[in-house]
Amino acid sequence: VSDEVRAGYDAWAPDYDALDNPLIAQATAVLEDHAALFETARVLELGCGTGRNLAFALLSGAREVVGVDGSPGMLAVAKKRLPRARFVEGPLTTPVGDGFDVALICLVLEHVEDVRPVIRAAADALAPGGHLLMMELHAALRAKQVGANFRVGDVEYRLPSFLHEGVELADACRAAGLREVEVRDHRPDPRALSRSPKLAARYAGQLILVEVVATK
Ligand SMILES: C[S@@+](CC[C@H](N)C(=O)[O-])C[C@H]1O[C@@H](n2cnc3c(N)ncnc32)[C@H](O)[C@@H]1O
Repeated sequence: VSDEVRAGYDAWAPDYDALDNPLIAQATAVLEDHAALFETARVLELGCGTGRNLAFALLSGAREVVGVDGSPGMLAVAKKRLPRARFVEGPLTTPVGDGFDVALICLVLEHVEDVRPVIRAAADALAPGGHLLMMELHAALRAKQVGANFRVGDVEYRLPSFLHEGVELADACRAAGLREVEVRDHRPDPRALSRSPKLAARYAGQLILVEVVATK
């Protein structure tokens, strides 16, 4: 992880879960649609941040969760939230074992120029028949210059942002040996709109998130 991204997330970590973030609201709704994937599953999340997705996986019946992230500040929040989960500080490609039933990459690839090594790391960690679930900023947001940005006190953080087309993510999945690759474009859904006033105010009706599901 670059120094800039690490410093940004370290600063953001204490407030991250409390802020109204339109992308997180939409990604959460998509994750909820996949709750059944987590039952009795071993789950790996690359770029787990504060552990909010892994907490959902555990609530949905996961038997083991592992998170990798490059921000000590984000991981400190995650460890407090899920004291018995395993968290590894390091790059997204850090080897953490294999045989996982589900690998998650959620709102992370925006910070990565070349997605292929990250998607390959997730694919390599899956058991045969396991699923990769990715959620990412929709490339249509390019026109709106959306990217991770937030304010801590007087400091405005605007992190470098790489938007990825669905086809680029799908190609990387196939190159990593995954099959049954499905790409879905999302506009804000009613659950997300009810949770995020910002989503409703800024993005109602617009393409906001791309979801990719693939099987090993
Ligand atoms: C927007 S947050 C998403 C966190 C979580 N997946 C979620 O959905 O709430 C992005 C996370 O990716 C991590 N990250 C970004 N680039 C990274 C890299 N190259 N190596 C390790 N972690 C990285 C950041 O530290 C941050 O915690």
